[in-house]
Amino acid sequence: MAETDPTAKRPAAGYTPMVTEEHAERIRRWHENAYNNGKAEAGPGRTVTYLGRTLVIPPEVMPITGVSHLLGEAVLAEVRESDRVLDMGTGSGVNAILAASHAADVLAVDINPGAVAAARRNAERNGVADRVEVRHSDVFSDVDGEFDLIVFDPPFRWFAPRDLFEAAMTDENYRAMTEFFRAAKRHLTPTGRMLIFFGTSGDLPYLEHLADQQGFRTEVIAQEGLEKDGWRVDYFTFRLTQDFRPT
Ligand SMILES: C[S@@+](CC[C@H](N)C(=O)[O-])C[C@H]1O[C@@H](n2cnc3c(N)ncnc32)[C@H](O)[C@@H]1O
Repeated sequence: MAETDPTAKRPAAGYTPMVTEEHAERIRRWHENAYNNGKAEAGPGRTVTYLGRTLVIPPEVMPITGVSHLLGEAVLAEVRESDRVLDMGTGSGVNAILAASHAADVLAVDINPGAVAAARRNAERNGVADRVEVRHSDVFSDVDGEFDLIVFDPPFRWFAPRDLFEAAMTDENYRAMTEFFRAAKRHLTPTGRMLIFFGTSGDLPYLEHLADQQGFRTEVIAQEGLEKDGWRVDYFTFRLTQDFRPT
């Protein structure tokens, strides 16, 4: 998995990288280059067919990538008809729409108003608007109640985003991801599950630390390695459940 610096301090209130300095520096350099090529990365907006759904994704919303299927297929395999589902950071609405093929009660939220509008239109386009409610929310700020399944593909990097598109990929000091893990249990039923997508182009040890700190049991259910700019990046879909250790 990711390179971990054994001397790294466990972050308390703030965030301190838990990957080695060398790994953190490599991610930072990659972050700078991604922004310099940002226009190409954002693209003009496009219509894509993905796992049998048609999605229109505007330029300021996260596109479908070569590894999106690792989470999308896991959602299709995991979701049950009786599940109340939350898709945190829905982007184009993709995972909410996939979840709605089985579940009738899906809430999709995003901080990006462009994503909220795109997800609504994509839910209509795929005939599931009556099963998917889309809301603007900063993490759980406008989310109420408990869910049987929460899906989250968080921004991987921890630097300040320089525009709305970049906010899909970078979350300053992991403020949103940290808040997500601290509040997740309050929004899960006792037997609730979470599907989380993350990769080694982010601080994976920090995510594992947050999950562990909150007492989640974590298993890897999908994995793929890709060569990126001469660097191998591993992507994982994790399935998290609450750890019921006898007390
Ligand atoms: C990596 S993208 C994933 C998008 C989509 N779920 C997918 O799989 O294509 C992360 C998403 O989280 C959203 N996001 C970032 N910070 C957020 C926050 N504080 N609250 C809610 N959503 C947030 C971004 O706008 C973006 O749409």
